[in-house]
Amino acid sequence: MDWGMKNRLSRIIKPETGRTVMLAVDHGYFMGPTHRLEEPRKTIEPLLVYSDAIMCTRGVLRTSINPGSNVPIVLRVSGGASIIGDSLTNEAITTSVRDAVRLNVAAMALSIFVGSAHEHQTLTNLGRLVNEGEEHGIPVLAVTAVGKELEKRDARYLALACRVAAEIGAHFVKTYFCNDFGKVVKGCPAPLVVAGGPKLETELDAFQLAHDAIQEGAVGVDMGRNIWQSEHPVPMMKAIREIVHGGVTVREAQEVYNRSKNTKEQVILRPTAAR
Ligand code: R5P
Repeated sequence: MDWGMKNRLSRIIKPETGRTVMLAVDHGYFMGPTHRLEEPRKTIEPLLVYSDAIMCTRGVLRTSINPGSNVPIVLRVSGGASIIGDSLTNEAITTSVRDAVRLNVAAMALSIFVGSAHEHQTLTNLGRLVNEGEEHGIPVLAVTAVGKELEKRDARYLALACRVAAEIGAHFVKTYFCNDFGKVVKGCPAPLVVAGGPKLETELDAFQLAHDAIQEGAVGVDMGRNIWQSEHPVPMMKAIREIVHGGVTVREAQEVYNRSKNTKEQVILRPTAAR
């Protein structure tokens, strides 16, 4: 791996811990003004200092994130389908690598839909993006998306999808957590980050998911709805950071969350990468 590629990846996956807490706010690209992400800037701004990277589209980046914030950006560059259209799997690459370079992003992300009607198209999208990423030293995050078929999220399917992504050259892979997640990790030679998925019933469920994913070998999380659809997004981020970077238990994370929720501390500095 070339120096530029390694350098960009190390801005996302922190060398101090080998882990990352990414904040996913790219949902609008197919879901529109999702609940609690209606005004992206309002949702994102308080969470910036707690995010090792932000995953978003160029539209949200240009309109809703201060370029002075210096947070690494994982730019979603695929799209072309919406929640009310025929198929969520019919994606193309919508943003050029040239624009990604102009935006000084740390990585580019796209979805692949293994086993869907658009499997070939999305996998060759990935191949092309990796080729261009290699040319420019920009890592590619492949998202093993399932569209509306959430029931697909089991170890057998996800292991297959993640391995295919890594074989095509994805530098890191985002997938869902599932039973027997260790099997998915074992079969994927590229680092894995987990999505949170739709909002879980309690904060504790989200802490458990992050904790178990890390224990079973994920290098981090790329969470969205379970953070910003929570009643207390900042305490959620603090607790998740403690799990990912600090290795705390689910119970300890819950304490961090409760303390933070009840104290309304003022944030002055970006927390160190280690915690
Ligand atoms: C889905 O395709 C989007 O890329 C989201 O970034 C992803 O699902 C992670 O967000 P959440 O934790 O809300 O599932």
